Amino acid sequence: MACLKGKDILHGNQFTRKEIEAILKVASEFEKELKKKDTLPLLKGKILATLFFEPSTRTRLSFETAMQRLGGGVIGMGSVESSSVAKGETLLDTVRTVAQYADVIVLRHPRLGSAKEAADAVPIPIINAGDGAGQHPTQALLDMYTIQKEIGSLKNLTVSLVGDLKYGRTVHALVELLSLFKAKIYMVSPALLRMPTEITTGLKENGIEVIETEDMVEAANASSILYMTRIQKERFADLSEYERLKGSFVLNRAFLNKLKRKVTILHPLPRVDEIDPEVDTYPGAAYFRQMRNGIFVRMALLAMIFGKR
Ligand code: NCD
Repeated sequence: MACLKGKDILHGNQFTRKEIEAILKVASEFEKELKKKDTLPLLKGKILATLFFEPSTRTRLSFETAMQRLGGGVIGMGSVESSSVAKGETLLDTVRTVAQYADVIVLRHPRLGSAKEAADAVPIPIINAGDGAGQHPTQALLDMYTIQKEIGSLKNLTVSLVGDLKYGRTVHALVELLSLFKAKIYMVSPALLRMPTEITTGLKENGIEVIETEDMVEAANASSILYMTRIQKERFADLSEYERLKGSFVLNRAFLNKLKRKVTILHPLPRVDEIDPEVDTYPGAAYFRQMRNGIFVRMALLAMIFGKR
């Protein structure tokens, strides 16, 4: 069994295929257990701290839910404005402080590399819940869990990633995991929002077939998974560029009707306008199931980090 005991979770590239399979297996056990009872008290007495310097709904609340379902406690800063960060305290001083109170920290921060800096500064595990346009590894794990549940397997996948591939940290982490399973990856984005070349080069070096295109119909027709993303408005230095690019790729019923077969639609959420709400009742629309899966995958990660699985 993979050993994540005491480890930081920082980057999609830190996992082996065996580790991912182990995490998904534990997540699936927990999902079954939670049908029978409300809690699995493996982490009684442990405390998780959430440190979120950027907005979050699903990531923070599903981590809090996961910890509480495992019998552990949760502390958080509320808002940045109500903490000493508002007085000018640095990230590392804040993290050092919280590390005195908690046993694990879930951190989201706008700066690329911030999670690694935090992990280097404190002895307790840091879980990267998003470092700017960098990585979001726990989202990628729950995406893999969702794909396995929806499709039945992680083998021979063809996946289309659509939208903001430049700034989207969820897709940056997800491609690392998909590459371990030798998926074929279509990358559909406006030219200005293409996947960073360091990432595509790395994938190609690992023998992954990557097709970059602006033709969403071609990509969707070749794929079983259509992974939509939000254009990351908060990363644009020039908002007029955002205004020009938003709405580049929109998924609606008319588009789905053109496809040869049913696809499974994922989105890390929140969505803005890239998936029309009329798609929500399409049988392959899996994004609400996907967000629920976050609880089981984050429970699995926490249990494993504390050596309880
Ligand atoms: C994503 C994020 O914060 O990177 N949200 C999430 O964690 N589910 C995606 C996004 O904000 O577009």
